[in-house]
Amino acid sequence: MSPLHVTRTLPEDATDAALRADVLHGLNVSPKSLPPKWFYDALGSELFEQITELPEYYPTRAEREILAARSGEIAAASGARTLIELGSGSSEKTRFLIDALTSLRSYVAVDVSESALTQAGQALVEERPRLDVHALIADFTAPLTLPDTPGPRLLAFLGGTIGNLLPAEREKFLASVRALLAPGDGLLLGTDLVKDERALVRAYDDAAGVTATFNKNVLAVVNRELGADFDPGAFDHVALWDAEQEWIEMRLRSRTAQTVKVPALDLAVHFAAGEELRTEVSAKFHREGVTAELAASGLELTHWWTDAESRFALSLSVLR
Ligand code: SAH
Ligand code: AVI
Repeated sequence: MSPLHVTRTLPEDATDAALRADVLHGLNVSPKSLPPKWFYDALGSELFEQITELPEYYPTRAEREILAARSGEIAAASGARTLIELGSGSSEKTRFLIDALTSLRSYVAVDVSESALTQAGQALVEERPRLDVHALIADFTAPLTLPDTPGPRLLAFLGGTIGNLLPAEREKFLASVRALLAPGDGLLLGTDLVKDERALVRAYDDAAGVTATFNKNVLAVVNRELGADFDPGAFDHVALWDAEQEWIEMRLRSRTAQTVKVPALDLAVHFAAGEELRTEVSAKFHREGVTAELAASGLELTHWWTDAESRFALSLSVLR
């Protein structure tokens, strides 16, 4: 059994510096906002896994259904010897691809969550002793240095996580993905699809309140890392559908007028009663939009698969 290769591409204090910059900016602008990557400490990653099991949260099940049915076709079209996965989390659904890709030598999992990465990576090393497994602790919105592994490469970005990037961030992200690929390499992209508003809002405001706990976890992260005194109980979880932008927005709404201190930044932030902090957008897509965004970054969509209820899509595109 080869060991798990763990690589940290950024110095430990880079995460701290990035969090400081994001909190300083996000709490000083109007409307207030924080990037969603800060949800995913060990507890946030665990809460996300719980979300994937909720009856209301359909994307994981829908994408798993597609992968279970289509991994053979994906493997035949790709022939990849290296599978790279961005925002890999538990790598649970990835096993369909790993099993189908008969020429696969290396799997490179990239995530900001060290706990999710090492847990998933260690399990894979034990389950698949002949596979060369790399765990890269890195931010996929920043330039990535990938390990030297054999081509062709298939880069997977599953779960609909691309929807958590704002349109300008998506454009930049797709340009950087393109730069990682050589002609003949592929991108396997999971995108959640536009659908009935009630089904969408339910998925982000579940009856058991797990998504609310996940949403408030970002406050616990800022408290722990920057010594802030956010009271998660003083905020309400909000999930709403923006029909114009075609995205779900998660927010935290201040129940009262309050001032939150962030000592590490020498900051006191005032929230008016009812004021909202945006914590995530989760964009939903149509086939035409996905095709156009990929084409704009030089990628040609060659395959499009959905689940039986057309809730979620997986697309395969190639660099010509
Ligand atoms: N792909 C998995 C997990 C999706 S949850 C699935 O489909 O179930 C989103 C994952 O992306 C989390 O594991 C989170 O830690 C990671 N993530 C979020 N923002 C990131 C960023 N900027 N860079 C790297 N990983 C990120
Ligand atoms: C990771 N990402 C695709 C999830 C989503 O659906 O946007 C994160 C999430 N937020 C609330 N529930 C799940």
